[in-house]
Amino acid sequence: MSQHTLPDLPYAYDALEPYISKEIMVLHHTKHHQTYVNALNAAEAAYAKTSTPKERIALQAALKFNGGGHINHSLFWKNLAGSAKEGKGNGGVFKADSPLGKAIIGKWGSLDIFIKEFNTATAGIQGSGWGWVGYNPTGKTVEIVTTANQDPLLSHVPLIGVDIWEHAFYLQYKNVKVDYLNAIWNVINWGEAESRYNEAVSGAKL
Ligand SMILES: [Fe+2]
Repeated sequence: MSQHTLPDLPYAYDALEPYISKEIMVLHHTKHHQTYVNALNAAEAAYAKTSTPKERIALQAALKFNGGGHINHSLFWKNLAGSAKEGKGNGGVFKADSPLGKAIIGKWGSLDIFIKEFNTATAGIQGSGWGWVGYNPTGKTVEIVTTANQDPLLSHVPLIGVDIWEHAFYLQYKNVKVDYLNAIWNVINWGEAESRYNEAVSGAKL
């Protein structure tokens, strides 16, 4: 069985400053994400050695938690980019005339209203979880969704995932989740969301 590995960040650890500090990024990537990778590999190895349904059922929670953690963080890194405001990349550059931009403006009226609704829904998660912008393949619409813990988004095609675990913001924003959520839009990689949206609309499984 192939082992999962920690993907490299597509930018430097300090690339998202001042919105997400280097200290957070180093710990988040090299410690938290690495731990999910290691535990997923261990759970899959244990699963491969099982001989009874009971043994396999006993491993479901570990597979879901650590597999979800690996999937979610792998996407999260790609969802972020150095801020255009800081001259560090294309983070925060929303294109209202792109297909995804049109879908968002068409549904919410403006980017600001969309962000406000996303931040309210995501800040409202009780405990740890993820806020998502997802494509609903049945309704063919863009929706704001949340999941608990490390549950991956299965009901929608994930376009943007925002980690709302305390490890994602506490060192910089302390308990003020809303400041973290307001700041993160400066480093959201809309180009990545756009390409995922275009693939989702065409029926690709992401
Ligand atoms: Fe995280």
